[in-house]
Amino acid sequence: MHPISQSLMSARVGVVGAGRLGTALSAALREAGLAVNGPAGRGEVPRGCDAIVLCVPDSEIPAAAAVVAGAAPLTGHTSGATGLSALEAAGGAAFGLHPLQTFAAQDDAERSPALDAFAGAGCAVAGTSPEALAFAGALARALGMTAFEIDDGGRAAYHAAASVASNFMVTLQAAAERIAAGAGLEPHEARALLVPLLRRTVENVAELGPERALTGPVARGDRATVEAQRRAVEEVAPELLDLFDQLIRRTRALAGRAASPRLGRMPADRPYEVSA
Ligand SMILES: NC(=O)c1ccc[n+]([C@@H]2O[C@H](COP(=O)([O-])OP(=O)(O)OC[C@H]3O[C@@H](n4cnc5c(N)ncnc54)[C@H](OP(=O)(O)O)[C@@H]3O)[C@@H](O)[C@H]2O)c1
Repeated sequence: MHPISQSLMSARVGVVGAGRLGTALSAALREAGLAVNGPAGRGEVPRGCDAIVLCVPDSEIPAAAAVVAGAAPLTGHTSGATGLSALEAAGGAAFGLHPLQTFAAQDDAERSPALDAFAGAGCAVAGTSPEALAFAGALARALGMTAFEIDDGGRAAYHAAASVASNFMVTLQAAAERIAAGAGLEPHEARALLVPLLRRTVENVAELGPERALTGPVARGDRATVEAQRRAVEEVAPELLDLFDQLIRRTRALAGRAASPRLGRMPADRPYEVSA
């Protein structure tokens, strides 16, 4: 075992923030065999810890860091978008540990084993010292995640990519459920019907990449079908029409890329109009 991993197993980690991530992280670290204090609530300071991890909203990190000032030689946060300077008030070395995973419910921790939610995910790590960076990496690996280093300059783009992949997909599903009302489906009925489609789409993207995973009327060049869809959206959910039009444009651009001779998927006589 690498020395930092060895010392990690005897480390005591304090977790601050009893929300979605803090609850799941505390449970998973315990399952991984680490000693854990917490999750601690507002104003509480985990004592006697080798490191403290703040799982609080991004805007609260400086305030929470001030509360735990001097309590541990290492203090970290779990935000993807926030630089390590937000931890300055804590003193000592700082680290970042951002699981590239979504924890939607506080009862995630009750889903046993809690480690399952972390295992296999990526984890962006950072540190203000080589030791702090190594600690974050070892913590990520103890949870079964793949650690990759991120510096403050790349954080906004990294986090925007994560939001597009996860948060906006949820927004799109809500839009799909809304539009399905035009077919007389209740949201729960639409969800039950659409989720198998969503799951297979995710698997196709993972296996084939976006260009080859794309199916449907835009990819086939069925313009009349797209027009009929557009009229239905306008009727059922006019507030979603702008979104629909933007997505059609981006999907046409993607279909155009898929139609490149290298991929050889679209007939050359069916070029796609790609507007900005
Ligand atoms: N959830 C995810 O999927 C996810 C994934 C990766 C990373 N993260 C990161 O994890 C962090 C927490 O996100 P979350 O989704 O777990 O948020 P959350 O569910 O809203 O929980 C935040 C918790 O922090 C507490 N809190 C707020 N201000 C505090 C303070 N000054 N001191 C101590 N505790 C404080 C809140 O308590 P009150 O109820 O008293 O306000 C709440 O229990 C964020 O930086 C986020 O970027 C989240």
